Amino acid sequence: PELEKWVDEVPRPSVLKPDGRKKGKSYYEVDMRQVEQQLHRDLPPTTVWGYEGQYPGPTIETKRGEDVYVKWKNNLPEEHLLPVDETLHGTGPDVPDVRTVTHLHGANVEPESDGGPEAWFTQNFEEVGPTFEKKTYWYANEQPSTSLWYHDHALGITRLNVYAGLAGFYFIRGKHERALDLPDGKYEIPLVFQDRTFNDDGSLFYPSGPDEDEGEPNPDPSVVPEFFGDTSVVNGKAWPRLTVKPRKYRFRMLAGGNSRFFNLKLFQYDEETQTIGDPGPTMTQIGSDGGFLEKPVEISDRLLLGPAFRADIIIDFSEYEGQSLLLHNNAPSPFSGVAGEDPDDVQPLPEIMLFDVQEKGCKRDKSCIPKRLARVPEINPDNAVEERELPLVEGVDEYDRLKLLLGTRESPNGLNWDAPITEDPKVGTTEIWDLINTTVDTHPIHLHLVQFQVLGRRPFNVDQYNADRESGSVGPISDYCTGELEPPAANNRGWKDTIDADPGYVTQVIAHFGKFKGLFKDFTGEYPWHCHILEHEDHEMMRPYEVLPRED
Ligand code: C2O
Ligand code: CU
Repeated sequence: PELEKWVDEVPRPSVLKPDGRKKGKSYYEVDMRQVEQQLHRDLPPTTVWGYEGQYPGPTIETKRGEDVYVKWKNNLPEEHLLPVDETLHGTGPDVPDVRTVTHLHGANVEPESDGGPEAWFTQNFEEVGPTFEKKTYWYANEQPSTSLWYHDHALGITRLNVYAGLAGFYFIRGKHERALDLPDGKYEIPLVFQDRTFNDDGSLFYPSGPDEDEGEPNPDPSVVPEFFGDTSVVNGKAWPRLTVKPRKYRFRMLAGGNSRFFNLKLFQYDEETQTIGDPGPTMTQIGSDGGFLEKPVEISDRLLLGPAFRADIIIDFSEYEGQSLLLHNNAPSPFSGVAGEDPDDVQPLPEIMLFDVQEKGCKRDKSCIPKRLARVPEINPDNAVEERELPLVEGVDEYDRLKLLLGTRESPNGLNWDAPITEDPKVGTTEIWDLINTTVDTHPIHLHLVQFQVLGRRPFNVDQYNADRESGSVGPISDYCTGELEPPAANNRGWKDTIDADPGYVTQVIAHFGKFKGLFKDFTGEYPWHCHILEHEDHEMMRPYEVLPRED
């Protein structure tokens, strides 16, 4: 359906209240339910899945250093809302279609509470997955203040469960944060950017397979290589507008679509003629996935948000009284690291939302953008005890469908999710992971448990590497590098848990698996790492890794 743009206000997710105390700490119960929700003024109500019956789910507000308990409960119907491909890993006729497990993305968390893909459960925990351990999760919150987000992670159907609506914010706030005098209260707004496609009756559309012309018949339904919706949905409203005062705001941004990258910039906008004018206010980034940056970074051109990235952003509207501003996206879909409109892009989503800046007449804006935000202790590469070469490669599955995989130096052609563990860092040690992208698209690679740092990226000879990989004679990656390490952009120099690994580059990240300079906690056990394009993750672009205990 053609929906009129900018008619609904951006809703603000509610804040979840604790249901009580457990072991002296806040205890929450969160119910997943199927509900009808109005996603646009002119659209019939849409059936969605929501935590506490809300899409997006309510925001969980926590304090740094104060652990909390959450019991996630599945009260969803027995039938899935969307087409389930029963040939993917973790699925099949013997596995219930509606199974859920909630992962707190970016959390430094014990494995039993991580919400891994095989720890799923059904209504009333009647059936549970092979790695299910407990009903009530424990979150330590011993990490820098930041925006985490929770979302579904059930093996083989994550893309469907998240698309149906299972996602929400989780904030960790520290004392230090209050002292920064950032815009707060009604001037601090979480924004989750998603893309959806709707049927005329208001229901969510998700493809049951690739388009016919894309090749041989597939299983029906079949997973698709990626999914891009044609409608921008922000905080659960299609093409919304946000009325703001001419002052500073803090936006907690999250790219929460299945496959879509967002490359964002504000422009002055004439609503009447629907024309884009001069650039609007710049964005100042103060935080990344896992915490504050050391210093604010003014985004000179565009802000890139790959799937699951968060950006803590200050925008000052004080010079734009009475104006409309369009949040514009020019990331091609699929994204390959090259910014700018792509004439061949069949699913672009240039318009994200509108900001309406009111006329003056409000109180003085006492908030500020501090010169220094936080200390981000550097993980020193000299301390790395291991450097792992991890190729991102293309393969095919038994139905001849393109399947993206993660590999190792020994298995450079990729390994499935259920292959034995190959990455096994010891707790308390530092490692460098080289993400060698041999494919044509950018993959947002996410590690559970840790917040890592980005060392940079190096171009390499993909054709030579792929030829050697296929002939079984691949050498060390340094033999293929064609240039020096390019350092990360200023806004990628903080804590990250998901990184865009661009094609043709070796993206180097460094992680410390344990407590680090008063931050994080030591945890051992199994965690996944994967591509956060949900269609890739569901189709084998995910591997388990294990943090091993200390040897005494
Ligand atoms: Cu946001 Cu393993 O995921
Ligand atoms: Cu991917």
